[in-house]
Amino acid sequence: MRIVLFTGKGGVGKTTTASATALRLADRGVKTLLLSTDAAHSLADALDVPLTGEPAEITPGLWAVQLDAQRRFEDAWQQVQGYFAELLSHGGVDPITADELTLLPGLEEVLALLAVRDLARTGDWDTLVVDCAPTAETLRLLALPEALGWYLQKVFPAQRRLARGIRPIAALLGRGDAVPADPVFAALARLADELADVRGLLADPATTSVRLVLTPEAVVIAEARRTFTALALYGYAVDMVIANRVFPAGEDAWRQAWADAQRRQLAAVRDSFAGIAMRELGYRTGEPVGAQALRAVADELYGELPGADPVPVVATAQLLRVDADGADFVLSLPLPLAEPGAVEAARVGDDVVVTVGGARRVITLPNALRRCSVVGGEFDGTRLQVRFRPDPEGGTAQRDE
Ligand SMILES: Nc1ncnc2c1ncn2[C@@H]1O[C@H](COP(=O)(O)OP(=O)(O)OP(=O)(O)O)[C@@H](O)[C@H]1O
Ligand SMILES: [Mg+2]
Repeated sequence: MRIVLFTGKGGVGKTTTASATALRLADRGVKTLLLSTDAAHSLADALDVPLTGEPAEITPGLWAVQLDAQRRFEDAWQQVQGYFAELLSHGGVDPITADELTLLPGLEEVLALLAVRDLARTGDWDTLVVDCAPTAETLRLLALPEALGWYLQKVFPAQRRLARGIRPIAALLGRGDAVPADPVFAALARLADELADVRGLLADPATTSVRLVLTPEAVVIAEARRTFTALALYGYAVDMVIANRVFPAGEDAWRQAWADAQRRQLAAVRDSFAGIAMRELGYRTGEPVGAQALRAVADELYGELPGADPVPVVATAQLLRVDADGADFVLSLPLPLAEPGAVEAARVGDDVVVTVGGARRVITLPNALRRCSVVGGEFDGTRLQVRFRPDPEGGTAQRDE
């Protein structure tokens, strides 16, 4: 089972390259499902076939589906929804409808993730090719399982204890329904489990890899570099960089100037992403829409003979590591391409919070490290290392920057 995600700045060719990759896989006899987490349903446009919320086989071996967040509400969700609706109505907001609730920030992403997980777990397909929304949304999406899981684990048990105490008081005040009832907590606990499962699937480099699509322009490359760092921070493996819309060399001055500028940018891409497979896709004479044009794109990306696997598993070292060093432990996390000044790490109780630029990850410390003090930390340009030393006194809550 493989899951391949395509992301990159808006308009760089994510949908086109994801569709071409899925077609190539199907043509090689790999049962493939192509889906999009992007609310803008452009898969149907790229493939030039109508799609629905149910996976449909559009060409032998290739299924495609347009995720429909609205339809993904299950019973458990209805209860969580009910809780939010109550909370909002107590805040003086008019009761809201289920449709409006799907507009809650992050909820659509959660539902998309759960849908990807459910489709992967059916076992009906060998490979899932996921056409993601532009970078910022995709990073939010990929950070969500761990962040929300963390929140549910840390905050809700405390709130729940609190709720047990205050429900009688709230009832006296005639506000008992403002305190979440147990079924809501049960639903949230189940959600936490499901998110952990999503995370297990997506952060496993043997299953999931991310492909960065870019065009050879300085602004686009800068964003791709930041994305690469953020993906490493969250623990996702990048296995390919696709440079799209590369101009062919030409005779006239205008084309020559562009071709030269792109050549310089492509060299910068090769330099930035050294060690990662890079493919180029030329600027075609028309929009690659429909199976025939997308197959030509796949030929250019993966070679005309369907010999090589377009989605091989690239062995990637475990991204987050804890190594023993004498009596100390060293927690290390690769953060490729990060600006040293932008990397921050702080211990907060049993967690280490790592921030790079705008991206943040809360790493829950394994038991062995909780009873240690942080005695040092450094970022050497590629890897963040935090040194822990066993505490003779046992663990103490502390904050080290
Ligand atoms: N190599 C190419 N040559 C010519 N046209 C291309 C090429 N790659 C993509 N296109 C066209 O550029 C447009 C944008 O491509 P695409 O929809 O794949 O980008 P995207 O990254 O998915 O965009 P969005 O961020 O809006 O989802 C489409 O009209 C597509 O057909
Ligand atoms: Mg798209």
